[in-house]
Amino acid sequence: MTMIRKVKAIIDGYNAEPAQLISVLQDIQAEYRYLPREAMLEVSRRLEIPASRVYSVATFFRAFSLKPRGKHLISVCLGTACHVRGAQRIVESLERHLDVRAGETTDDMRYTLETVNCLGACALGPIVEVDGEYFGQMTTRKIGQIFRKYK
Ligand code: FES
Repeated sequence: MTMIRKVKAIIDGYNAEPAQLISVLQDIQAEYRYLPREAMLEVSRRLEIPASRVYSVATFFRAFSLKPRGKHLISVCLGTACHVRGAQRIVESLERHLDVRAGETTDDMRYTLETVNCLGACALGPIVEVDGEYFGQMTTRKIGQIFRKYK
């Protein structure tokens, strides 16, 4: 199914109801792992919501991405509690391992690396989240665990 047809089907599933904007975007994100531009324009047209509003909702929530994301999303917490326990070293180690900078996706589209502010489990810091799973008290040595689990 083409992207536009798929997006139309998602929108129809919500009866093209403008109040369902976030649910529609969540479904598109789940399908493509990001929100393609054409998809957002289609949402804007079909739900009769200005594109600027669709974009502002899409950029407000961390769960949404406007850029293609890899199969696995690795988020390193750089909130204060994690930062003072060496989270920056974890980021640098992951950047070297993946050969990308934070915010980027590997060429093979397997991993996206990003940094976030406080995942809400400060006592376990430094924390790395992979596809929703938390790895606490992370060290540069334990990074291999992540890649063994999320190949
Ligand atoms: S600062 Fe990292 S979980 Fe709160």
